[in-house]
Amino acid sequence: MCGIVAYIGHQQAFPIILKGLKRLEYRGYDSAGVALLNDDLLLYKKAGKVSNLEEYTKDKTLDSNVGIGHTRWATHGAPTDLNAHPHKSGDDRLAIIHNGIIENYSSLKKELIERGHSFESDTDTEVLIHLIEEIIKQDNVSLEEAVRYSLNEVVGAYAIVVIDKENPNKLIAARNSSPLVIGIGKDEFFVASDATPIIEYTKNVIYLDDEQVAIIERGEEVKIVDIANKTITPYIQELEMNLEAIEKDGYDHFMLKEIYEQPQSIRASMLGRLNSITGQVTLGGVEEFETKFMNAERIIFVACGTSWHSALVGEYMIEDLARIPVEVEYASEFRYRNPIITEKDIVIAISQSGETADTLAALELAKKKGATIYGICNVVGSSIARATDAGSYTHAGPEIGVASTKAFTAQITVLALMALTLAQKKGSITKTRYQELSNQLNDIPNLVTKVLESNDQIKYIAEQYKDAANFLYLGRGYNFPVALEGALKLKEISYIHAEGYPAAEMKHGPIALIDESMPVVAIATKVANYHKVVSNIQEVKARNGNIIGIVTEGDESIREISEHVIEVPKTDEFLDPLVSVIPLQLLSYHIAVLRGCNVDQPRNLAKSVTVE
Ligand code: G6P
Repeated sequence: MCGIVAYIGHQQAFPIILKGLKRLEYRGYDSAGVALLNDDLLLYKKAGKVSNLEEYTKDKTLDSNVGIGHTRWATHGAPTDLNAHPHKSGDDRLAIIHNGIIENYSSLKKELIERGHSFESDTDTEVLIHLIEEIIKQDNVSLEEAVRYSLNEVVGAYAIVVIDKENPNKLIAARNSSPLVIGIGKDEFFVASDATPIIEYTKNVIYLDDEQVAIIERGEEVKIVDIANKTITPYIQELEMNLEAIEKDGYDHFMLKEIYEQPQSIRASMLGRLNSITGQVTLGGVEEFETKFMNAERIIFVACGTSWHSALVGEYMIEDLARIPVEVEYASEFRYRNPIITEKDIVIAISQSGETADTLAALELAKKKGATIYGICNVVGSSIARATDAGSYTHAGPEIGVASTKAFTAQITVLALMALTLAQKKGSITKTRYQELSNQLNDIPNLVTKVLESNDQIKYIAEQYKDAANFLYLGRGYNFPVALEGALKLKEISYIHAEGYPAAEMKHGPIALIDESMPVVAIATKVANYHKVVSNIQEVKARNGNIIGIVTEGDESIREISEHVIEVPKTDEFLDPLVSVIPLQLLSYHIAVLRGCNVDQPRNLAKSVTVE
């Protein structure tokens, strides 16, 4: 959470930082600010979105080649102008941007107050910059040394960049648990929370590791030390991302673009892994760990949010085909509940960003307990991807809309490939079934394209229900996680209360809520338990609920008892979530747009949750 950008070089820093902050707004958008160095330290910050900052700075002095910028998701202190970053030292010499939480800020603050410091904001970050200031004064050390010393005193997570009026040719950056990328251009450097603000200037980047400090100086090579002052040789790598992938490309919102990208992103997840001619599946990470997987007594998925929903689909798939016991855990619960984990367990983290603090911590716990750890991540080079023993990238391309869409279907695609690979190796699947499923998986992008053709019809349905106060989503089997995901999408972006439920569980509570004003989205495709879902729909009908059925093409029975039906093409039950979730994504999208909500940046949410 929170996005940070910094620049030092020969260009004007402000436009680069502002553009970078707009790219990072998915990480938080409570307030934004910049600090620029010319002869003075210029500081501009504003509550609200980056556009507020842009407006506010229109008539300000912005001439500078060095600066830092921040877009915030508030943790300590309300989202006000004063709490916005950057924060300054008491002597107005230093400025800092910070993503993360300094957990021992209150004791540090007390000590600093005793030494005469006073604070303008309620943030933990202001404490850190005062601590750096104090160290410079007391120990008479260089800026980089002071930053390093201070980081030895703090407990918590950070990605920071510090600038200093008396060292205008330097940026000092550091990280622990929050991501930080350094871009190396020609006579210029960039620092950011992810590569999106950097990509149009350079493809050469260094991903900083935990407890490392980078000294970035004009005309010099980047130097890296760890917080114990050991020199680290920087590893410069080339970014694979391209600029088009992070632009809206004519769509009104990133979310809509990402929904429409799914035929390509699902294909990209299969590329080089599913041979479309022979139907053979090869998933590198699993091959690498074949013995471990074959001897695994259990697979445990850890994840949060939408990724947790795809983990549920993964559980069904792997147990069904490969007959390995699977558990699915909320990372935030798992990490604190002293779970039983053995060396025979494989713990798989699923994460779009690869940065979710709870998921990372759950993985570290599993590693400590001796389990093999594996990652299914979208962001290449992310913290989870780097922490794991092996893994599979989802290759969905950058996902910018806060509500996850294409990352979800890419995760399920990788899980399907994993289940097929494991089943084949275990001999738990017949050749015919394997072939049938891999052929159908190969055809999924075409089926998704077909579902997207229902967009206008879905928009019409959205118009009918945009003012509903509650929604219920029902599904069984493989479509139960899809019901959860449909409800989550609606809550996230339209602020309508929604619940996802296993269709048969409805009788044990939610049925009491059903009346003529309750829309019920029933995922009732022609897969196992179809007739049982039809009975559940009848139960809703008997109580005057409004049914929106997601049905298999040509299904007439559900049409007769529903207010609306959205047809999806027939596929195997195992792959059904990949097509049945698409109408739910579009339904939420249109309802949110019709309600005037900010679809790409819903209130209170952030895409990359780097705090627990
Ligand atoms: C946040 C996002 C969700 C996402 C969840 C897990 O809550 O808003 O869209 O599903 O984090 O994120 P991850 O990057 O680990 O998949």
